[in-house]
Amino acid sequence: MAGTFVEPEQTPLALLLLGQQADPDSERGVDCPGDLPAPSDPDLVARALAAKQALGDRLFILGHHYQRDEVIQFADVTGDSFKLSQQAAARPEAEFIVFCGVHFMAESADILTSDDQKVILPDMAAGCSMADMAEISQVEDCWRTLERAGVADRTIPITYMNSSAAIKAFTGKHHGSVCTSSNAERSLTWAFEQGDKVLFLPDQHLGRNTAVRDLGLSLDDCVVYDPRKDNGGLSDSQIEDARVILWRGHCSVHGRFTAECVDDVRERVPGVTVIVHPECDYSVVAKADQVGSTEKIIAAIDNAPAGSKWAVGTELNLVKRLALNNPDKEIVYLDKTVCFCSTMNRIDLPHLVWALESLAAGHVVNQIDVDSETEHWAKVALDRMLALPGPTPGRD
Ligand code: 13P
Ligand code: SF4
Repeated sequence: MAGTFVEPEQTPLALLLLGQQADPDSERGVDCPGDLPAPSDPDLVARALAAKQALGDRLFILGHHYQRDEVIQFADVTGDSFKLSQQAAARPEAEFIVFCGVHFMAESADILTSDDQKVILPDMAAGCSMADMAEISQVEDCWRTLERAGVADRTIPITYMNSSAAIKAFTGKHHGSVCTSSNAERSLTWAFEQGDKVLFLPDQHLGRNTAVRDLGLSLDDCVVYDPRKDNGGLSDSQIEDARVILWRGHCSVHGRFTAECVDDVRERVPGVTVIVHPECDYSVVAKADQVGSTEKIIAAIDNAPAGSKWAVGTELNLVKRLALNNPDKEIVYLDKTVCFCSTMNRIDLPHLVWALESLAAGHVVNQIDVDSETEHWAKVALDRMLALPGPTPGRD
């Protein structure tokens, strides 16, 4: 029996042209060197398999849950950002780690692997628009604002995994930690044991949802720092009074889900359980039944009883796969329109084949190589996250 899946309306905007194009909205908008196989090549799957086989144990392929089906089938391990960073760190024998995900994930894998291992991102244009919302110079300006307000020495920076290596390094230098959607609560709890304020970068929603929903702070304990405004748009007394200073960043994919989507789906599908990713706005998370990382969303639905109904607020490749893998449940998409992550989708089969065949032929392409100073401090922040106690993966 086929899974029940309500296909959302397609919008022309979401049908982004993939391939060798640069993405003007991403700082990673660079062309792919060399010739990509044609997407219409009927031998792409066989070519990927042959290159993978030729590379054998020298190769390890990591795949994030938002990747396309055509790509995820070749992953040795799939996971959320936390699990993939753990897996990258646990593969010292692999000479090549091919990361089917986005740039910040590949950077983190490079930081967590040894110098003689090479991390490859099949398309360098696979960035993350949220990570692009915080630049290191802006973060340094923000810190100077906190110093002027007299609170920097009591503030612990926590950066979401979805940030550049430079920002992770800044966080490490300033006694902070990285977090992911699966351990944000533990990271924030840890941070409040070290200081009395947190600067949370760059996703205001994950920061707010964790502070209010998990730690029991009030919405008024949080202020939003806008990097485009003087003093972040905040007075010194607002900074002094705040417990959590949230960077003004967000995910445009998860930003499409609204509280109305939740009301609407509850009306359309009586008895539905609404599960959303914590990158959604607070108003959505407050109305949802469950909140969690991609790994937790998968576990919740896989382990649910047959016949249960789910509305899922996260990226579409994952939701479609959940429907396919759970034919005994009704899975609907929380929004009525399509919501792929266009940068995740840049990793397609032609790029994967091109990367694997290049490696098999002895050409290292699209290597992600973080400079050693940045790597050192970013690793400090990543290691602090990996050392946090508690169950993993999945948000509790
Ligand atoms: P997860 O760590 O939950 O997989 O999330 C990563 C991400 O980018 C979600 O948009
Ligand atoms: Fe970045 Fe959003 Fe895509 Fe996740 S879904 S990689 S946060 S743009």
